Amino acid sequence: MTVLLTGATGFLGSRIAHALITTRAEPVVALGRGDPSRLRNRMVEALQVVGAGAFDGRHGGRLRCVSGDVTEPWLGLSPALYARLAGEVDAIWHCASDIALTGERERLYRVNVHGTAEVLAFAAVTPPHCKLVHVSSVAVAGARPSGHVMESDLSDVHGFETHYDASKYTAECLVQQWAERHSRPVVVLRPSIVAADRTLPEGAAGHSLSVLGNMLEAVSQGGAPGIPAQRPRARGLSLRLRVSSNASFNIVGDRYATEAMIRIGHDRRYQGAAAYTFHMVHPEPTPIRDLLAVIEDQYPGLRIECADDDVPDPTAAEQFMAASLTGFLRYCRHQRVYDRSNATAATPGLADPAPIDAAFLRGALGFARHDADHPSRAH
Ligand SMILES: NC(=O)c1ccc[n+]([C@@H]2O[C@H](COP(=O)([O-])OP(=O)(O)OC[C@H]3O[C@@H](n4cnc5c(N)ncnc54)[C@H](OP(=O)(O)O)[C@@H]3O)[C@@H](O)[C@H]2O)c1
Repeated sequence: MTVLLTGATGFLGSRIAHALITTRAEPVVALGRGDPSRLRNRMVEALQVVGAGAFDGRHGGRLRCVSGDVTEPWLGLSPALYARLAGEVDAIWHCASDIALTGERERLYRVNVHGTAEVLAFAAVTPPHCKLVHVSSVAVAGARPSGHVMESDLSDVHGFETHYDASKYTAECLVQQWAERHSRPVVVLRPSIVAADRTLPEGAAGHSLSVLGNMLEAVSQGGAPGIPAQRPRARGLSLRLRVSSNASFNIVGDRYATEAMIRIGHDRRYQGAAAYTFHMVHPEPTPIRDLLAVIEDQYPGLRIECADDDVPDPTAAEQFMAASLTGFLRYCRHQRVYDRSNATAATPGLADPAPIDAAFLRGALGFARHDADHPSRAH
């Protein structure tokens, strides 16, 4: 079975590629940006990070890289290669996306909506047995503040927090319409915040918590351009952030999320004109209080205050954090729970993901690496 995978150089895509190649022995065609040799180098580097170095020549033979761009006509391929691939692939995993939570609408819609439409046009010319797996997000629930979000829910009645979640919602609508119009099944996977609790090497594709951890470190060290110098160790630093102290979010470990996605997207068969939707989430939400406690523990001079409204007279550090984290902070007001009945029914025997405890959060925020960079810190 040959799998065409978009977004394979990214955090999630590289994990999916690694699992397909190494655990299911599938040939993978990675469609990505840049010339083929550079793309292949990036892919091999990404796969070595995921496999902690265990990606060798035997595995490399199952990886093919083609230069393309999901926003371009013919996916940026020549019409001949487009037609050849369409006849060759047995599955398409669409994982490419622009995940900039603070991004402009036009930019996000170009990749997430128009790009998905181009992938759907390609899928339409593949033979009926070719499976389509679309990687979406729990963010399609938009601005819904609370409640039990079902895997069958797809609605815009609550509006959206960011252009990102609006774009992911719109893309999912296109996918549903495609399934009906072409009388074919589509698998829709909706991960929550997928995080790795291991130290990621410099330059590797990161995740939301590693990005947040790097930002906090930069603020505390005052070393990066454009980041206000603050040294919480030397003098108490109070940061007021517009987040609700009762909020929670769903964080799930990358190993569980990857295995669940592969079992659902690769191992199972689907029939009929329907979008089969699965939440790739942790059974328990993570209270924002737990995350803030881990951060304050890392930076003893730092105190983070939760503000229900806009912060009056923000300091330079508060302005920086608010501007950089606009999208993320908006989700930090929700108290939603995600149903995972479809996902658990489709993954019998798969153990629930490990708890998201302080040790996991420290690892995901990269604090172990930051401590190693500053040996004087004791934990
Ligand atoms: N990570 C999470 O926690 C999470 C949670 C929920 C949902 N998701 C969803 O999972 C998917 C992957 O997310 P991620 O975290 O892995 O993102 P990521 O690390 O930013 O990777 C995005 C991937 O998309 C590719 N891409 C972007 N624009 C493209 C274009 N025009 N043509 C071709 N490829 C393009 C990127 O290629 P380059 O390397 O060339 O930039 C990269 O491979 C997305 O659909 C996202 O919405 C992720």
